[in-house]
Amino acid sequence: MNYDVKDLSLAEQGALRMEWADNEMPVLRLIRQRFEQEKPLQGVRIAACLHVTTETGNLMRTLKAGGAEIALCASNPLSTQDDLAAALVKYEGISVYAIKGEDKETYYKHIHQALDIQPQITMDDGCDLVSVLHTDRREGLASVIGGTEETTTGVIRLRAMAKEGVLQYPVIAINDAYTKHLFDNRYGTGQSTMDAIMRATNLLIAGRKVVVIGYGWCGRGVAMRARGLGAHVIVCEVNPLKALEAIMDGYEVMPLTKAAEVGDIFITVTGNYHVLREEHFHRMKSGAIVCNTGHFNVEIDIPALERMATGKRTVRAFVDEYQLSDGRRLYLLGEGRLINLAAAEGHPAAVMDMSFANQALSVEYIIKHHSGLPKDVFPVPAEIDAQVAQLKLQALGVQIDTLTDEQAKYLESWQEGT
Ligand code: ADE
Repeated sequence: MNYDVKDLSLAEQGALRMEWADNEMPVLRLIRQRFEQEKPLQGVRIAACLHVTTETGNLMRTLKAGGAEIALCASNPLSTQDDLAAALVKYEGISVYAIKGEDKETYYKHIHQALDIQPQITMDDGCDLVSVLHTDRREGLASVIGGTEETTTGVIRLRAMAKEGVLQYPVIAINDAYTKHLFDNRYGTGQSTMDAIMRATNLLIAGRKVVVIGYGWCGRGVAMRARGLGAHVIVCEVNPLKALEAIMDGYEVMPLTKAAEVGDIFITVTGNYHVLREEHFHRMKSGAIVCNTGHFNVEIDIPALERMATGKRTVRAFVDEYQLSDGRRLYLLGEGRLINLAAAEGHPAAVMDMSFANQALSVEYIIKHHSGLPKDVFPVPAEIDAQVAQLKLQALGVQIDTLTDEQAKYLESWQEGT
């Protein structure tokens, strides 16, 4: 078995933390128990490019219980939990290629190593694996029957590929399941982002002006949790509908050039390029903190910050101070990489439970139905989404109502009015 992890002696700690996360992942556990009996993934080779966390560890155990052969690499150079990577290798026999802090060259080497398994299914988070497979490793496309994509950014890239007609196999957009984005993107990103900022800086959030840039499901979650901690939250948006929503949710909305002058903490969560840039750095107060919680490290124009700086030093783990010629100091967290996974542990297991239940069930779906699926991006089947919600409620011990026959009939009729 091949692997490349930091240190196998960390495995015991990783296994304990994976077990702790598993306590919060009852839906995935139920699927794992069924997979163990039925082996629906028997002999299927899966290359997975995901954040290598304890939650991902439990997904890998589930796929393996179903009979799959797996190679796992990181979907971000800074998000790997080295102890967990070691545990998957040592105790689960899974080929893992991931080291926290790996450079770009190693990151791509690891993606290539994961592809060496000659996958039949790809499981991606951000579309880097799929992108390499469609460019440098095209010979690997022949064996692939389908894939899944975890995140908004990846789904956007895949749709661009499908639109250009270059996507070579069907991919299920896990992100678009209700039981994914309404919980993972909103409550997961919200909590883990604020957790990471606090772990990295130990700053008091109460009374500070927190600027949330982007009001998608992740931005909504971050704004909500920053407000809960007592921050004065400002939202910046380019979409009029979302801006209006932020206003009615009770936030102040203004252009970023204006927010740049008043903000204490800036959080990008747009999925877009150079959102915070030189014109904004020029306006910021000394001591301002900038960080990103979107998928890629392109939302903050770090090269501009480097150019503007007369000096730079790391003042705490994940906190880089940039000294500017006018005496101001700006602080960049986690090298502009997604801060919730760089400086904290990513989304809590209770939400990843639903995201990864969708992943496991979608892999099973692809195996059963791939021959009828077009080379396109399509949603998680509604019955899987509903099943995940149902199982989560069951695990939480929550019962809900059902429609009476009369109500069901009423909803299907049109004759009855006033
Ligand atoms: N993405 C965000 N949080 C995550 C986590 N805890 N594990 C895997 N992927 C994630």
